[in-house]
Amino acid sequence: MHNPGNRRPVVLVTGAAGFIGSHVNEALLRAGCAVVGVDNFRTGRRENLRSALEAPDFTLREADVAEPGVLAAIAAEVRPAAIVHLAALVSVQESVADPDLNFRLNVQATHLVAEAARASGVARIVFASSAAVYGEGAGEPLRESDLRTPPISPYGAAKLASESLLLGHGASYGITIRCHRFFNVYGPRQDPRSPYSGVISLFAREFSAGRPVTIYGDGEQTRDFVSVHDVARAVVLAATRPGLASGAANICTGRPISVNRLAAIFGSLVPGASAPRREPARPGDIRHSVGDPSRAAADLGFGAEWAVEKGLGELAGTRAA
Ligand SMILES: NC(=O)c1ccc[n+]([C@@H]2O[C@H](COP(=O)([O-])OP(=O)(O)OC[C@H]3O[C@@H](n4cnc5c(N)ncnc54)[C@H](O)[C@@H]3O)[C@@H](O)[C@H]2O)c1
Repeated sequence: MHNPGNRRPVVLVTGAAGFIGSHVNEALLRAGCAVVGVDNFRTGRRENLRSALEAPDFTLREADVAEPGVLAAIAAEVRPAAIVHLAALVSVQESVADPDLNFRLNVQATHLVAEAARASGVARIVFASSAAVYGEGAGEPLRESDLRTPPISPYGAAKLASESLLLGHGASYGITIRCHRFFNVYGPRQDPRSPYSGVISLFAREFSAGRPVTIYGDGEQTRDFVSVHDVARAVVLAATRPGLASGAANICTGRPISVNRLAAIFGSLVPGASAPRREPARPGDIRHSVGDPSRAAADLGFGAEWAVEKGLGELAGTRAA
């Protein structure tokens, strides 16, 4: 990959073996980039990399990006045009249970990414931020400037702190920083075995096993569900499009979908599906969360293309196969 005749831009992807990372690798390869994926398999899986590892322009480095010097050494060797930083402790609940670990994996690691970029002259960083940066009642729909109320978890706080760290580095050292606030991402390879998995991967597993899904509360709580295919496309745009300025943007659809609606769509896709079970509402469950997608449209030319009906159809088909 690193011979001088290969003129493909190299993109370094942290968290490459994860759910989102595995789709990002493939989208970058399709866009003509060479990809160096970094992962320590904390939550990622080798099988997620099956397709990428078949590509001659993909290489894997098994490494911990929260360990000082590790990513800097890789960046110094491969000289990437951009770093896509997805590696993280991804569970809000785990960040509450272990805020020290959250700090190490979600704040220190980001600082080390910024420093690796500075030392190796990397021109651009794309960072996986989250809708968790927004506090309760921040806005409906949520706009990027709706930050008057603070994040309600160590995870959300770490994502917001990471955005600031990166933007400060970018302004000081001439690195373009794109912070993508992903909303509720879903799609193939999302791991339903995690107790913190998104509702769509849990529903897909239960429906395909012929078991009833559980709906907490009245089921009218809404989220902005965005397909991982759209998310990967937004990352590729941010990593490769010339002339982008630094900034944060929601990566979302702008369309609220209720949990009842998800269950109804799955029910129509899976013949003979059982009726949902109802349980009392869970404390702390946010009622509504939907993003305003207009900044990503203006900055990146990005708009979500996957309607949730299509995305759930893909999952129902994937599981039936
Ligand atoms: N899935 C969502 O709905 C969602 C929403 C908002 C933001 N995000 C963010 O997107 C990113 C990817 O999330 P995901 O859903 O693909 O989760 P994931 O757990 O599937 O992926 C995270 C990857 O990072 C790797 N990793 C963790 N710590 C590492 C370390 N110190 N060194 C090297 N590798 C490490 C894990 O092994 C895993 O492969 C994360 O930053 C997450 O916070 C995800």
